[in-house]
Amino acid sequence: MASNREKFGGRMAVILAMAGSAIGLGNIWRFPYMVGEHGGAAFVIVYIIATLLISLPVFLAEVMIGRRSHTNSRDAFARLSRHHPFWKGAGYLTILIPTLIACYYSVIGGWSVEYFLKSCSFAFANTDPEAASGLFGDFVSRPWTPVVMHLLFLGATVLVVAGGVKAGIEKFSKITLPVLFVLIVVILAYSVSLPGAGEGVRYLLHPDWSELTPRTFAYAMGQSFYSLSLGMGAIITYGSYVSKKENILVTSTGTAVSDLLFAILAGFAIMPAVFAAGIAPGAGPGLIFQSIPYVFAKMGAGLPVLSSLAAIIFFLAIIVAAMTSCISLVEVGVSFLMERTGMTRGRACLLLFLICGGLGVLCSLSFGPLSGAKVAGMTIFDLFDWTCSNILLLVMAMLAVVFVGWVLPKRVVHDEFTNAGSLPLNDRIFPAVYFLIKWVAPIAVVIIFCTNFIL
Ligand code: PHE
Repeated sequence: MASNREKFGGRMAVILAMAGSAIGLGNIWRFPYMVGEHGGAAFVIVYIIATLLISLPVFLAEVMIGRRSHTNSRDAFARLSRHHPFWKGAGYLTILIPTLIACYYSVIGGWSVEYFLKSCSFAFANTDPEAASGLFGDFVSRPWTPVVMHLLFLGATVLVVAGGVKAGIEKFSKITLPVLFVLIVVILAYSVSLPGAGEGVRYLLHPDWSELTPRTFAYAMGQSFYSLSLGMGAIITYGSYVSKKENILVTSTGTAVSDLLFAILAGFAIMPAVFAAGIAPGAGPGLIFQSIPYVFAKMGAGLPVLSSLAAIIFFLAIIVAAMTSCISLVEVGVSFLMERTGMTRGRACLLLFLICGGLGVLCSLSFGPLSGAKVAGMTIFDLFDWTCSNILLLVMAMLAVVFVGWVLPKRVVHDEFTNAGSLPLNDRIFPAVYFLIKWVAPIAVVIIFCTNFIL
Protein backbone atom coordinates (compact mmCIF):
# COMPACT_ATOMS: atom_id res chain seq x y z
CA MET A 1 0.00 0.00 0.00
CA ALA A 2 2.71 2.41 1.02
CA SER A 3 4.38 2.20 -2.37
CA ASN A 4 1.17 3.38 -4.05
CA ARG A 5 1.05 6.53 -1.97
CA GLU A 6 1.12 9.74 -3.92
CA LYS A 7 4.01 12.19 -3.58
CA PHE A 8 4.45 15.87 -4.18
CA GLY A 9 6.29 16.49 -7.42
CA GLY A 10 9.42 18.36 -6.24
CA ARG A 11 10.82 21.09 -4.04
CA MET A 12 8.62 23.93 -5.31
CA ALA A 13 5.52 21.77 -5.09
CA VAL A 14 6.28 20.90 -1.46
CA ILE A 15 6.89 24.53 -0.50
CA LEU A 16 3.76 25.76 -2.28
CA ALA A 17 1.52 23.08 -0.80
CA MET A 18 2.89 23.60 2.72
CA ALA A 19 2.81 27.37 2.37
CA GLY A 20 -0.76 26.97 1.11
CA SER A 21 -1.62 25.24 4.35
CA ALA A 22 0.25 27.78 6.44
CA ILE A 23 -0.95 30.95 4.74
CA GLY A 24 -4.58 31.36 5.62
CA LEU A 25 -7.05 33.22 7.75
CA GLY A 26 -4.37 33.16 10.43
CA ASN A 27 -2.29 35.57 8.38
CA ILE A 28 -4.99 37.84 6.98
CA TRP A 29 -7.61 37.71 9.68
CA ARG A 30 -5.86 36.87 12.95
CA PHE A 31 -2.37 38.35 12.56
CA PRO A 32 -3.37 42.00 11.84
CA TYR A 33 -5.74 42.18 14.79
CA MET A 34 -3.23 40.52 17.09
CA VAL A 35 -0.62 43.08 16.05
CA GLY A 36 -3.26 45.74 16.71
CA GLU A 37 -4.07 44.41 20.16
CA HIS A 38 -0.50 43.76 21.28
CA GLY A 39 1.58 46.80 20.55
CA GLY A 40 2.37 46.92 16.84
CA ALA A 41 6.00 46.40 15.83
CA ALA A 42 7.08 45.01 19.20
CA PHE A 43 4.70 42.12 18.63
CA VAL A 44 5.94 41.64 15.08
CA ILE A 45 9.56 41.37 16.25
CA VAL A 46 8.71 38.84 18.96
CA TYR A 47 6.66 36.97 16.39
CA ILE A 48 9.55 36.71 13.94
CA ILE A 49 11.94 35.44 16.63
CA ALA A 50 9.37 32.93 17.90
CA THR A 51 8.80 31.64 14.38
CA LEU A 52 12.47 31.08 13.61
CA LEU A 53 13.57 29.71 16.99
CA ILE A 54 10.57 27.72 18.11
CA SER A 55 7.98 27.14 15.40
CA LEU A 56 10.47 26.20 12.71
CA PRO A 57 11.99 23.36 14.80
CA VAL A 58 8.48 22.11 15.62
CA PHE A 59 7.66 22.28 11.92
CA LEU A 60 10.76 20.23 11.11
CA ALA A 61 9.79 17.70 13.76
CA GLU A 62 6.35 17.26 12.18
CA VAL A 63 7.72 16.92 8.66
CA MET A 64 10.17 14.29 9.91
CA ILE A 65 7.41 12.26 11.56
CA GLY A 66 5.41 12.31 8.33
CA ARG A 67 8.24 11.59 5.94
CA ARG A 68 9.84 8.88 8.05
CA SER A 69 6.60 7.00 8.66
CA HIS A 70 5.26 7.52 5.16
CA THR A 71 1.68 7.18 6.33
CA ASN A 72 -1.28 9.14 7.68
CA SER A 73 -0.79 11.09 10.89
CA ARG A 74 -2.60 8.62 13.17
CA ASP A 75 -0.54 5.66 11.99
CA ALA A 76 2.66 7.69 11.86
CA PHE A 77 3.02 7.72 15.64
CA ALA A 78 1.99 4.08 15.93
CA ARG A 79 4.44 2.92 13.27
CA LEU A 80 7.43 4.89 14.51
CA SER A 81 6.87 3.94 18.16
CA ARG A 82 6.50 0.26 17.23
CA HIS A 83 2.86 0.35 18.23
CA HIS A 84 3.31 1.70 21.70
CA PRO A 85 -0.24 2.00 23.17
CA PHE A 86 0.25 5.61 24.32
CA TRP A 87 1.37 6.82 20.89
CA LYS A 88 -1.27 4.78 19.13
CA GLY A 89 -3.86 6.69 21.15
CA ALA A 90 -2.14 10.03 20.77
CA GLY A 91 -2.22 9.61 17.01
CA TYR A 92 -6.00 9.87 17.02
CA LEU A 93 -5.72 13.42 18.31
CA THR A 94 -3.98 14.38 15.09
CA ILE A 95 -7.10 13.36 13.19
CA LEU A 96 -9.60 14.84 15.61
CA ILE A 97 -8.08 18.33 15.80
CA PRO A 98 -7.94 19.26 12.11
CA THR A 99 -11.39 17.82 11.56
CA LEU A 100 -12.80 20.00 14.34
CA ILE A 101 -10.96 23.04 13.01
CA ALA A 102 -12.25 22.46 9.49
CA CYS A 103 -15.80 22.77 10.90
CA TYR A 104 -15.44 26.37 12.03
CA TYR A 105 -12.66 27.43 9.66
CA SER A 106 -15.04 26.84 6.77
CA VAL A 107 -17.66 29.01 8.48
CA ILE A 108 -15.28 31.98 8.24
CA GLY A 109 -14.42 30.86 4.71
CA GLY A 110 -18.15 31.10 4.03
CA TRP A 111 -18.25 34.67 5.35
CA SER A 112 -15.54 35.57 2.85
CA VAL A 113 -17.57 34.05 0.03
CA GLU A 114 -20.56 36.16 1.09
CA TYR A 115 -18.44 39.30 1.31
CA PHE A 116 -16.91 38.57 -2.05
CA LEU A 117 -20.36 38.24 -3.62
CA LYS A 118 -21.55 41.38 -1.85
CA SER A 119 -18.55 43.32 -3.17
CA CYS A 120 -19.33 42.08 -6.68
CA SER A 121 -22.78 43.61 -6.39
CA PHE A 122 -21.37 46.95 -5.13
CA ALA A 123 -23.13 46.42 -1.81
CA PHE A 124 -20.41 48.28 0.10
CA ALA A 125 -20.07 51.25 -2.21
CA ASN A 126 -21.70 53.73 0.19
CA THR A 127 -21.28 52.19 3.59
CA ASP A 128 -20.17 53.97 6.79
CA PRO A 129 -18.57 52.41 9.91
CA GLU A 130 -21.82 51.74 11.74
CA ALA A 131 -23.43 50.42 8.62
CA ALA A 132 -20.42 48.14 7.96
CA SER A 133 -20.54 46.71 11.50
CA GLY A 134 -24.32 46.45 11.31
CA LEU A 135 -24.06 44.62 8.02
CA PHE A 136 -21.63 42.13 9.53
CA GLY A 137 -23.77 41.53 12.63
CA ASP A 138 -26.87 41.20 10.53
CA PHE A 139 -25.25 38.74 8.12
CA VAL A 140 -23.65 36.38 10.63
CA SER A 141 -26.78 36.20 12.76
CA ARG A 142 -29.04 35.17 9.90
CA PRO A 143 -29.92 31.48 9.98
CA TRP A 144 -29.62 30.48 6.34
CA THR A 145 -27.20 32.55 4.31
CA PRO A 146 -24.06 31.90 6.40
CA VAL A 147 -24.87 28.18 6.50
CA VAL A 148 -25.25 28.01 2.75
CA MET A 149 -22.01 29.94 2.25
CA HIS A 150 -20.19 27.65 4.70
CA LEU A 151 -21.35 24.57 2.81
CA LEU A 152 -20.40 26.14 -0.51
CA PHE A 153 -16.92 26.90 0.73
CA LEU A 154 -16.45 23.47 2.28
CA GLY A 155 -17.87 21.76 -0.82
CA ALA A 156 -15.35 23.53 -3.08
CA THR A 157 -12.52 22.64 -0.69
CA VAL A 158 -13.49 18.98 -0.57
CA LEU A 159 -13.71 18.86 -4.37
CA VAL A 160 -10.06 19.91 -4.64
CA VAL A 161 -9.06 17.28 -2.08
CA ALA A 162 -11.04 14.67 -4.02
CA GLY A 163 -8.78 15.43 -7.01
CA GLY A 164 -5.87 13.80 -5.14
CA VAL A 165 -2.50 14.89 -3.80
CA LYS A 166 -0.90 15.78 -7.13
CA ALA A 167 -3.80 16.61 -9.42
CA GLY A 168 -5.86 18.28 -6.70
CA ILE A 169 -3.89 19.76 -3.81
CA GLU A 170 -0.56 20.35 -5.54
CA LYS A 171 -2.06 21.78 -8.71
CA PHE A 172 -4.43 24.07 -6.84
CA SER A 173 -1.66 25.48 -4.62
CA LYS A 174 0.69 25.92 -7.57
CA ILE A 175 -1.83 28.11 -9.33
CA THR A 176 -3.39 29.98 -6.44
CA LEU A 177 -0.44 30.78 -4.17
CA PRO A 178 1.44 32.99 -6.64
CA VAL A 179 -1.87 34.70 -7.44
CA LEU A 180 -2.43 35.24 -3.74
CA PHE A 181 0.90 37.05 -3.33
CA VAL A 182 0.04 39.27 -6.29
CA LEU A 183 -3.40 40.06 -4.86
CA ILE A 184 -2.04 41.03 -1.46
CA VAL A 185 0.60 43.26 -3.04
CA VAL A 186 -2.11 45.04 -5.08
CA ILE A 187 -4.14 45.62 -1.91
CA LEU A 188 -1.02 46.79 -0.10
CA ALA A 189 -0.22 49.31 -2.81
CA TYR A 190 -3.78 50.63 -2.70
CA SER A 191 -3.83 50.71 1.07
CA VAL A 192 -0.57 52.60 1.66
CA SER A 193 -1.46 55.14 -1.03
CA LEU A 194 -4.53 56.25 0.94
CA PRO A 195 -4.38 59.63 2.68
CA GLY A 196 -3.67 59.09 6.38
CA ALA A 197 -2.19 55.63 5.80
CA GLY A 198 1.25 56.77 7.02
CA GLU A 199 0.17 56.43 10.61
CA GLY A 200 -0.67 52.78 10.07
CA VAL A 201 2.73 52.16 8.51
CA ARG A 202 4.42 53.89 11.43
CA TYR A 203 2.35 51.80 13.83
CA LEU A 204 3.73 48.64 12.26
CA LEU A 205 7.31 49.91 12.15
CA HIS A 206 7.69 51.53 15.59
CA PRO A 207 7.94 49.07 18.44
CA ASP A 208 6.14 50.04 21.63
CA TRP A 209 8.15 47.94 24.11
CA SER A 210 5.98 48.99 27.03
CA GLU A 211 3.21 46.84 25.55
CA LEU A 212 5.37 43.73 25.87
CA THR A 213 4.16 41.49 28.69
CA PRO A 214 4.65 37.76 29.19
CA ARG A 215 1.26 37.39 27.58
CA THR A 216 2.55 39.01 24.40
CA PHE A 217 5.22 36.32 24.11
CA ALA A 218 2.69 33.58 24.65
CA TYR A 219 0.31 35.08 22.09
CA ALA A 220 3.10 35.56 19.56
CA MET A 221 4.19 31.95 19.92
CA GLY A 222 0.62 30.65 19.86
CA GLN A 223 -0.13 32.70 16.76
CA SER A 224 3.02 31.49 15.07
CA PHE A 225 2.12 27.82 15.75
CA TYR A 226 -1.36 28.39 14.40
CA SER A 227 -0.08 30.22 11.38
CA LEU A 228 2.37 27.45 10.47
CA SER A 229 -0.41 24.86 10.84
CA LEU A 230 1.43 23.13 13.67
CA GLY A 231 -0.08 20.73 16.16
CA MET A 232 -2.85 19.68 13.79
CA GLY A 233 -1.57 16.71 11.85
CA ALA A 234 -1.60 18.79 8.65
CA ILE A 235 2.16 19.14 8.35
CA ILE A 236 2.70 15.51 9.38
CA THR A 237 0.32 14.47 6.60
CA TYR A 238 1.93 16.73 4.00
CA GLY A 239 5.34 15.57 5.26
CA SER A 240 4.33 12.02 4.37
CA TYR A 241 4.01 13.12 0.73
CA VAL A 242 7.55 14.54 0.65
CA SER A 243 10.09 12.47 -1.24
CA LYS A 244 13.11 11.02 0.57
CA LYS A 245 15.35 13.04 -1.73
CA GLU A 246 14.00 16.41 -0.61
CA ASN A 247 16.05 18.60 1.74
CA ILE A 248 13.53 19.24 4.51
CA LEU A 249 15.53 22.10 5.96
CA VAL A 250 15.13 23.99 2.69
CA THR A 251 11.44 23.20 2.20
CA SER A 252 10.55 23.96 5.83
CA THR A 253 12.49 27.21 5.94
CA GLY A 254 10.98 28.18 2.59
CA THR A 255 7.51 27.59 3.99
CA ALA A 256 8.15 29.46 7.24
CA VAL A 257 9.64 32.44 5.41
CA SER A 258 6.74 32.62 2.91
CA ASP A 259 4.28 32.47 5.79
CA LEU A 260 6.11 35.22 7.68
CA LEU A 261 6.40 37.37 4.60
CA PHE A 262 2.74 36.98 3.83
CA ALA A 263 1.68 37.84 7.38
CA ILE A 264 3.77 41.00 7.22
CA LEU A 265 2.43 41.93 3.79
CA ALA A 266 -1.10 41.38 5.10
CA GLY A 267 -0.34 43.60 8.09
CA PHE A 268 0.84 46.37 5.75
CA ALA A 269 -2.16 45.83 3.52
CA ILE A 270 -4.69 46.09 6.32
CA MET A 271 -3.36 48.38 9.05
CA PRO A 272 -2.73 51.49 6.93
CA ALA A 273 -6.24 51.20 5.53
CA VAL A 274 -7.66 50.78 9.03
CA PHE A 275 -5.83 53.89 10.22
CA ALA A 276 -6.73 55.86 7.14
CA ALA A 277 -10.37 55.18 7.87
CA GLY A 278 -9.99 56.07 11.54
CA ILE A 279 -10.89 52.63 12.91
CA ALA A 280 -9.39 51.34 16.20
CA PRO A 281 -6.63 48.83 15.31
CA GLY A 282 -7.48 46.58 18.26
CA ALA A 283 -11.03 46.02 17.09
CA GLY A 284 -10.71 42.22 17.42
CA PRO A 285 -11.67 39.30 15.24
CA GLY A 286 -14.29 41.16 13.24
CA LEU A 287 -11.66 43.71 12.18
CA ILE A 288 -11.37 42.80 8.53
CA PHE A 289 -15.03 42.07 7.92
CA GLN A 290 -16.23 45.19 9.66
CA SER A 291 -13.57 47.60 8.54
CA ILE A 292 -12.46 46.63 5.05
CA PRO A 293 -15.79 47.25 3.28
CA TYR A 294 -16.00 50.66 4.89
CA VAL A 295 -12.35 51.46 4.31
CA PHE A 296 -12.64 50.77 0.62
CA ALA A 297 -15.96 52.59 0.34
CA LYS A 298 -14.62 55.67 2.08
CA MET A 299 -11.44 55.79 0.09
CA GLY A 300 -13.20 55.29 -3.17
CA ALA A 301 -15.95 57.84 -2.47
CA GLY A 302 -17.25 58.92 -5.82
CA LEU A 303 -15.43 55.97 -7.39
CA PRO A 304 -17.64 53.02 -6.49
CA VAL A 305 -16.17 50.81 -9.19
CA LEU A 306 -12.61 51.26 -7.94
CA SER A 307 -13.51 50.72 -4.30
CA SER A 308 -15.64 47.71 -5.12
CA LEU A 309 -12.83 46.28 -7.21
CA ALA A 310 -10.43 46.65 -4.26
CA ALA A 311 -12.94 44.86 -2.02
CA ILE A 312 -13.45 42.12 -4.60
CA ILE A 313 -9.69 41.50 -4.83
CA PHE A 314 -9.39 41.53 -1.06
CA PHE A 315 -12.13 38.99 -0.38
CA LEU A 316 -10.97 36.83 -3.27
CA ALA A 317 -7.55 36.70 -1.61
CA ILE A 318 -9.15 35.61 1.64
CA ILE A 319 -11.15 32.86 -0.05
CA VAL A 320 -8.07 31.48 -1.81
CA ALA A 321 -5.92 31.63 1.32
CA ALA A 322 -8.61 30.00 3.44
CA MET A 323 -9.22 27.27 0.88
CA THR A 324 -5.61 26.12 0.62
CA SER A 325 -5.50 25.88 4.42
CA CYS A 326 -8.82 24.12 4.73
CA ILE A 327 -7.66 21.65 2.07
CA SER A 328 -4.81 20.59 4.37
CA LEU A 329 -7.21 20.20 7.30
CA VAL A 330 -9.53 17.95 5.32
CA GLU A 331 -6.67 15.94 3.79
CA VAL A 332 -5.61 14.73 7.25
CA GLY A 333 -8.92 12.91 7.78
CA VAL A 334 -9.10 11.75 4.17
CA SER A 335 -5.66 10.12 4.20
CA PHE A 336 -6.50 8.46 7.49
CA LEU A 337 -9.81 7.07 6.25
CA MET A 338 -8.28 5.86 3.01
CA GLU A 339 -5.40 4.05 4.67
CA ARG A 340 -7.29 2.71 7.66
CA THR A 341 -10.52 1.57 6.09
CA GLY A 342 -9.55 1.16 2.45
CA MET A 343 -12.22 3.70 1.52
CA THR A 344 -11.80 5.41 -1.85
CA ARG A 345 -10.66 9.05 -1.85
CA GLY A 346 -14.07 10.13 -3.14
CA ARG A 347 -15.97 8.44 -0.34
CA ALA A 348 -13.60 9.67 2.34
CA CYS A 349 -14.10 13.21 1.02
CA LEU A 350 -17.86 12.82 1.09
CA LEU A 351 -17.78 11.53 4.67
CA LEU A 352 -15.63 14.45 5.80
CA PHE A 353 -17.92 16.88 4.02
CA LEU A 354 -20.87 15.45 5.95
CA ILE A 355 -19.10 15.52 9.33
CA CYS A 356 -17.48 18.97 9.02
CA GLY A 357 -20.47 20.38 7.19
CA GLY A 358 -22.86 19.19 9.90
CA LEU A 359 -20.81 20.35 12.87
CA GLY A 360 -19.98 23.57 11.02
CA VAL A 361 -23.68 24.34 10.73
CA LEU A 362 -23.85 24.37 14.53
CA CYS A 363 -20.85 26.73 14.65
CA SER A 364 -22.44 28.98 12.09
CA LEU A 365 -25.80 29.05 13.87
CA SER A 366 -24.06 29.99 17.11
CA PHE A 367 -23.92 33.58 15.80
CA GLY A 368 -27.70 33.58 15.35
CA PRO A 369 -30.43 31.19 16.43
CA LEU A 370 -28.07 29.21 18.68
CA SER A 371 -26.33 32.21 20.24
CA GLY A 372 -27.90 31.32 23.59
CA ALA A 373 -26.44 27.82 23.59
CA LYS A 374 -23.32 28.19 25.70
CA VAL A 375 -20.81 25.84 27.26
CA ALA A 376 -18.63 27.36 29.98
CA GLY A 377 -19.79 30.79 28.87
CA MET A 378 -18.73 30.21 25.26
CA THR A 379 -20.82 29.87 22.14
CA ILE A 380 -20.34 26.70 20.09
CA PHE A 381 -18.08 28.56 17.64
CA ASP A 382 -15.93 30.02 20.42
CA LEU A 383 -15.78 26.66 22.14
CA PHE A 384 -14.44 24.99 18.98
CA ASP A 385 -11.92 27.77 18.39
CA TRP A 386 -10.80 28.04 22.00
CA THR A 387 -10.45 24.30 22.59
CA CYS A 388 -8.58 23.73 19.34
CA SER A 389 -6.28 26.76 19.27
CA ASN A 390 -5.55 27.12 22.96
CA ILE A 391 -5.49 23.55 24.19
CA LEU A 392 -5.47 20.77 21.62
CA LEU A 393 -3.01 22.50 19.28
CA LEU A 394 -0.51 22.94 22.08
CA VAL A 395 -0.95 19.41 23.38
CA MET A 396 -0.40 18.03 19.91
CA ALA A 397 2.61 20.22 19.16
CA MET A 398 4.09 19.10 22.47
CA LEU A 399 3.52 15.45 21.62
CA ALA A 400 5.21 15.94 18.24
CA VAL A 401 8.36 17.54 19.65
CA VAL A 402 8.60 15.14 22.56
CA PHE A 403 8.21 12.28 20.12
CA VAL A 404 11.04 13.48 17.91
CA GLY A 405 13.26 14.78 20.71
CA TRP A 406 12.81 12.01 23.24
CA VAL A 407 11.17 8.93 21.72
CA LEU A 408 12.73 8.56 18.29
CA PRO A 409 16.37 7.46 18.47
CA LYS A 410 18.71 10.39 17.78
CA ARG A 411 20.23 8.41 14.92
CA VAL A 412 16.86 8.29 13.14
CA VAL A 413 16.30 12.03 13.57
CA HIS A 414 19.79 12.73 12.22
CA ASP A 415 19.13 10.41 9.32
CA GLU A 416 15.91 12.23 8.41
CA PHE A 417 17.36 15.69 8.83
CA THR A 418 20.49 15.03 6.78
CA ASN A 419 19.12 12.48 4.27
CA ALA A 420 21.36 9.81 5.76
CA GLY A 421 24.32 12.14 6.15
CA SER A 422 24.34 13.33 2.54
CA LEU A 423 23.68 17.03 3.27
CA PRO A 424 26.78 18.69 4.81
CA LEU A 425 25.10 21.94 5.94
CA ASN A 426 22.26 20.04 7.63
CA ASP A 427 24.85 17.82 9.26
CA ARG A 428 26.67 20.81 10.68
CA ILE A 429 23.61 22.50 12.17
CA PHE A 430 22.00 19.28 13.37
CA PRO A 431 23.15 19.64 17.01
CA ALA A 432 21.56 23.11 17.28
CA VAL A 433 18.29 21.99 15.66
CA TYR A 434 18.16 18.89 17.83
CA PHE A 435 18.68 21.00 20.93
CA LEU A 436 15.85 23.33 19.90
CA ILE A 437 13.53 20.37 19.33
CA LYS A 438 14.51 18.46 22.46
CA TRP A 439 14.68 21.31 24.98
CA VAL A 440 13.64 24.74 23.76
CA ALA A 441 10.41 23.88 21.95
CA PRO A 442 8.87 21.74 24.73
CA ILE A 443 9.72 24.35 27.36
CA ALA A 444 8.23 27.08 25.16
CA VAL A 445 5.01 25.11 24.74
CA VAL A 446 4.72 24.64 28.51
CA ILE A 447 5.23 28.38 28.97
CA ILE A 448 2.52 29.26 26.45
CA PHE A 449 0.19 26.79 28.11
CA CYS A 450 0.79 28.17 31.60
CA THR A 451 0.53 31.77 30.43
CA ASN A 452 -2.80 31.06 28.76
CA PHE A 453 -4.20 29.62 31.93
CA ILE A 454 -2.48 31.37 34.79
CA LEU A 455 -1.76 34.93 33.74
N1 PHE B 1 -2.25 27.95 9.23
C1 PHE B 1 -3.59 28.25 8.88
C2 PHE B 1 -3.80 29.76 8.94
O1 PHE B 1 -2.89 30.51 9.16
C3 PHE B 1 -4.58 27.59 9.77
C4 PHE B 1 -4.41 26.14 9.76
C5 PHE B 1 -4.07 25.50 10.88
C6 PHE B 1 -4.54 25.40 8.62
C7 PHE B 1 -3.82 24.15 10.88
C8 PHE B 1 -4.30 24.08 8.60
C9 PHE B 1 -3.94 23.43 9.74
O2 PHE B 1 -4.88 30.23 8.75
